[in-house]
Amino acid sequence: MKASISDLPFLIFGSPLIEQAEIDEVVACMESAWLGTGPRVAQFERDFAAYQHLQPSQVAAVNSATAALHVSMVAEGLEPDAEVITTPMTFCASINAIIHAGLTPVLADVDPSTQNIDPAAIGAAITPRTRAILPVHFAGRPCEMDSIMEIARKHDLKVIEDCAHAIETSYHGRKAGTFGDFGCFSFYATKNVVTGEGGMIVGRDDARIARAKVLALHGMSKDAWHRFGDQGYKHYQVVEAGFKYNMMDLQAAIGIHQLARVEKNWKRREVVWNRYMEAFADLPIGLPAPPAHDTKHAYHLFTIMLDEARSGISRDDFLNAMNARRIGTGVHYLSVPEHPFYQQRFGWKPKHWPNATRLGRQTVSLPLSPKLTDADVERVIDAVSGIVCRTGKITA
Ligand SMILES: Cc1ncc(COP(=O)(O)O)c(C=O)c1O
Repeated sequence: MKASISDLPFLIFGSPLIEQAEIDEVVACMESAWLGTGPRVAQFERDFAAYQHLQPSQVAAVNSATAALHVSMVAEGLEPDAEVITTPMTFCASINAIIHAGLTPVLADVDPSTQNIDPAAIGAAITPRTRAILPVHFAGRPCEMDSIMEIARKHDLKVIEDCAHAIETSYHGRKAGTFGDFGCFSFYATKNVVTGEGGMIVGRDDARIARAKVLALHGMSKDAWHRFGDQGYKHYQVVEAGFKYNMMDLQAAIGIHQLARVEKNWKRREVVWNRYMEAFADLPIGLPAPPAHDTKHAYHLFTIMLDEARSGISRDDFLNAMNARRIGTGVHYLSVPEHPFYQQRFGWKPKHWPNATRLGRQTVSLPLSPKLTDADVERVIDAVSGIVCRTGKITA
C-alpha cells in the first residue's frame, strides 16, 4: 500500500548532519567546564587556517558571519559614511553590517546567469566616496575575483569577501576569502560547516586580524581569555571600544569535527547537485549555471527559477505546493531593495536592480544537505517534477 503524504516525515530545509564525534566533543567540553573562548576555539582556528592554506595568525573565530563582517569593516578604519559596494542578492546581514560599521551600502546588480555581483555594475557604481567592495560568493559560486580585484586596485578600494556560503569555494586555484583584505565565513545551522551560530574572519594581514580579534572581545588586549587559565591571573587592558563577538568552546567543539568532514560532505552535496541537474534538465524551470572552469563551487544552495509564464506556476504557489508535500524549501533571496527598511532609509526601488529583482521573485532553494538520503533526493525530484508538470494544478 502506498504511504500517503501526511505519513511522510517533513524534510527540513538545510538540516545539518551532526555525528557522534561532535556530540562527544560537546560533552567533553561541558565536562571540562571550560565553555567560553578557550583551547577548543584555538584548535578550531588552527584547523580552519590549515584548511584555507593560511597561518593561524590570519584567522579569528567569532560568533557569526554578521559579527565577522561588522568587525572587519570596523577594523578597516574607513571614514564615516564611506560607500561600500555590494550585491542586492544577499542576506540582510551583509547590508546591516555595513550600516552598523557607520558606512553606506551601495548596490550593484548581479549577472543574471551566475547570480553574483557583476563587475561591470561595480565599475558603474563607483563614486568619489567609494572605499570598499563587499562581494558575496552566492550559493558557493565564486565571484569574478580577477575583475573585482582589478577594480579594487585601480580605485584603491578595500575588499571584504562575504564567504557565508563559500567555505569550500576556490577561484583559479585560490580559496575564497583570501583575495580581499578580509573574508567572512558563517557556521550558522544551515551552512556547510555548522557550529549552531558561529563565524570566522580570515585576512592577509596579521596585524589587521589581531585588531579584529581584539575588537571581537570588548576591545580587550590580546588573548584576554587566558586571564582565567592556570597560569595565574593576568590583567588585560581595554585598548578600544569593542564588541562581544567571541566564539565559545562549546561552538568550536562542534566545528572541529564538522570541519574534519567538510570535503566528505561536499562530495555528497555534489552527487545530489548532479542528480538534480540531470533530473530537472527537461523541466520548464531555470537551473543553476554550471560551475565555471578552474573554480570550485561550494554547492551550498541549489536554486531553481520559476518563471510563471514558462513554468505554469508562480514561485509562491510552488513553495506552498512543496510544503504540502512536506518538503522544506528556502528563498535566497528576495532582493534587498524589496524590504521596506532599505526603501525608506536609502530610497531604493527594486526596479533599479532588475536582474536581482527578477531572480529574487523567481528563486527557490531545494534541500541540499549531506544528510539527505537517496530516497529523500528522489522525493524532492518527484515533487518538483509533479508540481511543474501539472502546470500549477497541485494534487496531493
Ligand atoms: C550571504 C550571507 N551573508 C551573511 C550571513 C550571516 O551569517 P550569520 O548567520 O553567521 O551571521 C548569511 C547567513 O545566512 C548569509 O547567507
